[in-house]
Amino acid sequence: MWGLVNILSLVFVFAVAKEPLDIADIEDLATLSLSKRNLDFINGGSGRMRTVQDNVEAFGRYKLRPRVLRNVINVDVSTTILGNKINFPICVAPMAAQRLVHPDGETARPKVTAMEMGTCFGLSIAASASLEEITSAAPEGLKFLQVDPLKELRIVDSLIREGENKGFKGIILGADVAILRGRDTKERTDPIFPPEMKLGIWEFLLAEYNKLRQAEGKSTVNMTYFRKEQPDSSRTWDLVQWFKKYNPPAYHNQRNSHRYICEDAKIAAALGVNAIIVSNHGGRQLEDAPATIDVLKEIVNAVKGQCEVYIDGGIRTGNDVFKAIALGAKAVFVGRPILWGIAYDGKDGAKKVLDILQKELKVTMALAGAPSIADIVEEMVVHKSHFH
Ligand SMILES: Cc1cc2nc3c(=O)[nH]c(=O)nc-3n(C[C@H](O)[C@H](O)[C@H](O)COP(=O)(O)O)c2cc1C
Ligand SMILES: *[C@@H]1O[C@H](CO)[C@@H](O)[C@H](O)[C@H]1NC(C)=O
Repeated sequence: MWGLVNILSLVFVFAVAKEPLDIADIEDLATLSLSKRNLDFINGGSGRMRTVQDNVEAFGRYKLRPRVLRNVINVDVSTTILGNKINFPICVAPMAAQRLVHPDGETARPKVTAMEMGTCFGLSIAASASLEEITSAAPEGLKFLQVDPLKELRIVDSLIREGENKGFKGIILGADVAILRGRDTKERTDPIFPPEMKLGIWEFLLAEYNKLRQAEGKSTVNMTYFRKEQPDSSRTWDLVQWFKKYNPPAYHNQRNSHRYICEDAKIAAALGVNAIIVSNHGGRQLEDAPATIDVLKEIVNAVKGQCEVYIDGGIRTGNDVFKAIALGAKAVFVGRPILWGIAYDGKDGAKKVLDILQKELKVTMALAGAPSIADIVEEMVVHKSHFH
């Protein structure tokens, strides 16, 4: 009898917990479905994870100053990035090896982001899906391709051209991976990859590389060697200059053409990048880098409107999105919450995450008296030190 009651109450608790209301609920649900090692890989960061934590906490240091009586019957969250319309200013950050989390992996996201929700997503160079899989999942829709600094630029060129054919509209240059920071304990360093998992874009790059080598009469190399050998720590701003040739002449078929994005501020703007993502890689590279929201305004001021500015790191609520936009971001990118969503419920879970954030943003905008993205102004957000 008691056993039965216990079982019933367990079922009941599970059913209640199953309908996530916010991103914290989705994180809890993901925690139930992932192994500790994989969870550590996703949630982890550099060193003592002070930057990981600060990215999230910093948003709480900003307060909202609402306007009232402003007719918010229709709240419009649509905007543009690089001339492309998006339904709301919340995009998906590039993240490696998503089949680690769920068999849908990366293919969950283009369907959700590009096709169903009408926003943008970034595909990591270390994606576990191939460009073909991404394209067949979402032939239309806004997709950016993230590349790292590599030694052999001819293969990067092949990748970018292949990306162009497959409908990618922007290149994100990972300027923050001069070296790839390993996490600090063995447990955190090694997620458990499904044995059948392949890194689709690295496979493409390796095939291109071996073609070049064969044409030059050299022996082919294997993936292990290739992935160790190709990342290039010697790169300087010349690399950004090199990318300029894709901007926009090589990509002529789109309204606003293909663009490229990189991180850092004044030099990048002076070199003519189209956008900057203010990012500390979710606290996974340089420990004790400041929280991204704390430096956003500075960077926006530095580039003086020469390029668009986006931000990622620690965005977990609609309020966070609102604050980033008020402080000058054109859009935000979201990382871990999407992986939690995919872990919890594949494609539908990723959609749920974007849905929650979008709805929260609308509520914040209504209560703050900003019926459109253009109405979100700097004066609506202030650092809490203002009041003390
Ligand atoms: C598991 C994981 C893998 C990531 N892989 C990449 C990657 O391959 N390339 C890249 O440019 N950024 C990568 N990032 C960084 C994200 O693009 C983004 O900067 C970060 O996740 C944003 O912070 P948030 O997770 O707090 O939203 C990764 C982040 C996580 C959590
Ligand atoms: C890959 O190539 C390297 C360098 O030639 C070699 O040392 C290594 O044993 C190879 N690994 C595999 C798995 O074949």
